[in-house]
Amino acid sequence: MANAVTTATPTPRARVQAMMEYHPPLGSRDALRLDFNENTLECSPKVRDVLAQISAGALTRYPEREPVEAIVAAKLGLRAEQVALTNGVDEAIHVLFETFLEESDELLLPVPTYTMYQVYASATDARVVTVQAAGDLQFPFERLMAAITPQTKVIAIANPNSPSGSVASREQLLELARRAPQAVLMVDEAYFHFYGETLMDLAGTAPNLVVARTFSKAYGLAGLRLGLLAGPAELMQWVRRVLSPYSVNSLALACLPAALEDTKYLDWYVGEVLAARREFEATLDASGVRRWPSCTNFVLVDIGTQHAEFVRLMRAAGVLVRDRSSDPGCDGCVRITIGTREQMKKAVAALNDALKVLRAESGKR
Ligand SMILES: Cc1ncc(COP(=O)(O)O)c(C=O)c1O
Repeated sequence: MANAVTTATPTPRARVQAMMEYHPPLGSRDALRLDFNENTLECSPKVRDVLAQISAGALTRYPEREPVEAIVAAKLGLRAEQVALTNGVDEAIHVLFETFLEESDELLLPVPTYTMYQVYASATDARVVTVQAAGDLQFPFERLMAAITPQTKVIAIANPNSPSGSVASREQLLELARRAPQAVLMVDEAYFHFYGETLMDLAGTAPNLVVARTFSKAYGLAGLRLGLLAGPAELMQWVRRVLSPYSVNSLALACLPAALEDTKYLDWYVGEVLAARREFEATLDASGVRRWPSCTNFVLVDIGTQHAEFVRLMRAAGVLVRDRSSDPGCDGCVRITIGTREQMKKAVAALNDALKVLRAESGKR
């Protein structure tokens, strides 16, 4: 009987079978990339120099995270045990949820927000509690406060938020942390550099606050996969148990100090994007396109029922933008990443042409 042939196939956990699938539209992106909020240009030349010097022999070693964590922690004014480097912020989110969320726990989220929070939560046994932002897509502070229960175990806030570009104030975030001392408040500062406000100064001391940062956006290192989580050592020790010791590869670790050092490049890129955003927002306003205020390197615009056609026309003109119309409360919305002023000239030309076509089409109906 032991060798009997069976037609049964392995089945994953019920939770995994019910998990939401997420397939980011990463195919055919050989165009102006205004669809993923990446740096649209390149990383610091200092990082490129480090990469060029990496020997074949260096790749034979397992990556050692701790010395680089110490450098990053010192830059942030924290102790090494308060900082964990991760394979992008996505891994930080995944590991944090795996560490803290179990059955009967609740993950509290304002929506719309970054999609991966729900994806990773759906692999845990916790319940996801969402709080819908009002039509202005501003941070729904009062309703989040009211949604906290004794079961709330993690509260995930992207600040600034995507896709809305809106922000929560420092006071609001601290108030949430105080109201839910049994919960980890994760403040995801992926777009920090375009905003400037942070809770990082409290990451080591506020007992239930962890702050996430990415190197995928302003630093231009999305392909290297680098993120970090900072929080009190008492919480970070649990996160480290779940985190793979090798998930940040040696190329990423080698490049990180150079990326942090080159503040000149970072400041230049951020300044360029902010100037480009001001110009682009003025263009949108002049064209009568409704938009939401943004504290980031992207703008959410309301195209209405023709959103899919708009995205198609932009792509045909060589500009990739992201349809967010299926995000909660974002009917008809498209998110447009901001690049340099030079790059945005092409985006403006494509936008004006697309609007002309759409307006002619809707005039015919
Ligand atoms: C709010 C937010 N957090 C995290 C990420 C992903 O960061 P990473 O590339 O470091 O995984 C994104 C990417 O779009 C994001 O918008």
